[in-house]
Amino acid sequence: MSIHKQLMSSLEYPIGKKLSANVLADLRTDHAGEVGAVYIYKGVLLVSRDRGVRDFAERHFETEQSHLLRIKEWLPPDHYSRLLPLWKLAGFLTGALPALFGPKAVYATIETVETFVDQHYEEQVQALQTQPELVELLQTVLDCQADEIHHRDEAADARGTLKVGFLLRLWCAVVAFGSRNAVSICRYI
Ligand SMILES: [Fe+2]
Ligand SMILES: [Fe+2]
Repeated sequence: MSIHKQLMSSLEYPIGKKLSANVLADLRTDHAGEVGAVYIYKGVLLVSRDRGVRDFAERHFETEQSHLLRIKEWLPPDHYSRLLPLWKLAGFLTGALPALFGPKAVYATIETVETFVDQHYEEQVQALQTQPELVELLQTVLDCQADEIHHRDEAADARGTLKVGFLLRLWCAVVAFGSRNAVSICRYI
């Protein structure tokens, strides 16, 4: 890397801190996840005509965009996942497909995704608490996690007592499985 490039990246990215390969891998998964989240809501908004779902999706879409910006502040673009087009497509389908089936399917899907994302961020919170030099990154992750928990609870409330049938439970299991595997892949690619 040229001296100019080194200087630029130390100016643009977190205060010139050198992030470990492990932290960069975590951030790559966060970045891919937030890109996917933005596309989930793009998918929902393209398909759903339900007022409540659209209002829910519009608000969440904005929050996910703000998460993406905050993660981008930490992750230099040359560390982004090389599979971003795939994560965009996966996110889009995770929003658009349940939206074809109505509000209950959308809310159950979001509840599943955000339950996973909360756990995913929690692992990073635990790791970052042992690295006092990264206290600002810890705060970023904590802020995102708090929003995701709120999203999860809002989805659960919106679903209310609507029963989740076998097919929807199966879909949610596929979504949880896919999210876990996407994160594993993103750590490397
Ligand atoms: Fe998010
Ligand atoms: Fe979220």
